[in-house]
Amino acid sequence: MATTHPLKGQQDQERIPVSTSGVRKVLIGRSDSLPNGGRLVVDIDEKITIGIFRLDNELYAYENTCAHSGGPICQGRILPRVVEVMDSTKQIRGQNWDESDMHIVCPWHGFEYSIKTGRHAGDGKIHLRSFPVHEAEGEIYVEV
Ligand code: FES
Repeated sequence: MATTHPLKGQQDQERIPVSTSGVRKVLIGRSDSLPNGGRLVVDIDEKITIGIFRLDNELYAYENTCAHSGGPICQGRILPRVVEVMDSTKQIRGQNWDESDMHIVCPWHGFEYSIKTGRHAGDGKIHLRSFPVHEAEGEIYVEV
């Protein structure tokens, strides 16, 4: 039975091989369709949607389901982590952005996750479901 490609809506069994372990390697799109700092949100099938992010030229992939109540986390705002600035007496003197740790904020109730780790900004036990993602020959693939 042929598999339907999630982006092109066409049957393309060779481009979505299924391993003997049942893991699917799914073509997401061309590498140049996801620039550094960008994201793609893709319906893999009728059950799962995945957000793919590129930060510092590394790829990260998460299910588009917030750990809080299932909101579309991968479609939230992307912001740098906010850090407090302290003086030498440890008094807080304001806030700053940490551009090396980009976060995504759930559009439903504001849960915030690090894109590089998938972990909640305030409670590391809360995290997003991640997927292996890689590039080969100018194309991006996730394993689901
Ligand atoms: S569903 Fe994401 S913060 Fe509530």
